[in-house]
Amino acid sequence: MQLGLGLIGSGFMGRTHAFAFNNVNRVFDLPVKVQPVMLADANETLAARAAGALGFGESTGDWRRLVTDPRVHIVSITAPNVLHKEMALAAIEAGKHVYCEKPLAPGASDAEEMTRAAEARGVVTAVGFNYLKNPMMRLAREIIDSGEIGEIRAFSAIHAEDYMMDSEAPWTWRLDPAGGGGALADLGSHLIAAARYLVGPVAEVCGEVATLVPTRPDAPGSARRVPVEVEDVGRAFLHFENGCNGVLEANWLAGGRKMRQDFEITGSKGSIAYCGERMNELELYVASGQSGRAGFRKILSGPANEPYGAFCVAPGHQLGFNDLKAIEARDLLRAIAGEETGHADFREGLAVQRTLEAIYRSAESRSWETVG
Ligand SMILES: NC(=O)c1ccc[n+]([C@@H]2O[C@H](COP(=O)([O-])OP(=O)(O)OC[C@H]3O[C@@H](n4cnc5c(N)ncnc54)[C@H](O)[C@@H]3O)[C@@H](O)[C@H]2O)c1
Repeated sequence: MQLGLGLIGSGFMGRTHAFAFNNVNRVFDLPVKVQPVMLADANETLAARAAGALGFGESTGDWRRLVTDPRVHIVSITAPNVLHKEMALAAIEAGKHVYCEKPLAPGASDAEEMTRAAEARGVVTAVGFNYLKNPMMRLAREIIDSGEIGEIRAFSAIHAEDYMMDSEAPWTWRLDPAGGGGALADLGSHLIAAARYLVGPVAEVCGEVATLVPTRPDAPGSARRVPVEVEDVGRAFLHFENGCNGVLEANWLAGGRKMRQDFEITGSKGSIAYCGERMNELELYVASGQSGRAGFRKILSGPANEPYGAFCVAPGHQLGFNDLKAIEARDLLRAIAGEETGHADFREGLAVQRTLEAIYRSAESRSWETVG
């Protein structure tokens, strides 16, 4: 089966989607072959420049033309969050499969509308929780499921970066309250997806948010400052449905941290620990009686950790961020071919959104809130 790809947006994520789809049929043997057809961006000039660079034959400054083009069968949405819903609903209505970046939508009700529309139309969906595609993440889940570290007692996670640390960094769409939130929506959504993947659904939360840079220049180099209405830091205590407890922090002011997406899961017989700046490693601690020999051991990613071997035959040579996107694209294509992949679809994006929204509700009410 040959399907055409339409890509909306060509920024950070647009480029990674293009790399992923340009590589996915070279790395994996799949029943679906993808052909980049059209790229849409905010205007014709941006779109034409990006289309040429990223391998798309056509470009448009009007994303609506892309979603209704009969040669486009899969629509990748990598535009700012506030646009996801309108774009996804139009693509779904046109009968297209949709791969949308996270967070799925500004709010849970938006995400629900998108999920219902996709399910009613029978199209396949995916949300960009690419870190779940790391073979080390899959290994972590296998270790948990096997009982090797015993009964899971606690989950702790942080996603800290420093791209908003400079208080002179100007306003961007990431600070648009209509987009649904700040650091928690941007980074915390990945942590919630990881928490759900590794431990299970979250039942209730107790959250707090803080805006530590109250105003920013309205444009690069501008003297005019505008108020910041979303959080720079968000934290939450979590009660999982299975009785496990946890904690998470999302922070985009964390000086020196570039990709501190770290988690630790402790069980009755051992623990696992992961650090996003060393994404090809997983640390495993299994309690043993050997005095003086206890400690974490480091597992390095390799061909034994599927699908590392599709990219590289040598262990320890390391996968990268763009490879995770190619794995995500693989799962979307397999799902389109009717295979069961268990990938994060819109329904999973909705569950993450509900958890996120409960944290914001809790920060507002200053009390524990149930995840709807
Ligand atoms: N999965 C991840 O790890 C990850 C990482 C970063 C960002 N994201 C998500 O990806 C999305 C985009 O983030 P980014 O960092 O790539 O942003 P970006 O600002 O780099 O790129 C956004 C793109 O959207 C385009 N755009 C804006 N308005 C448009 C319109 N009306 N029509 C068509 N195109 C339009 C912009 O011109 C730009 O090309 C966000 O939802 C973000 O949360 C996901």
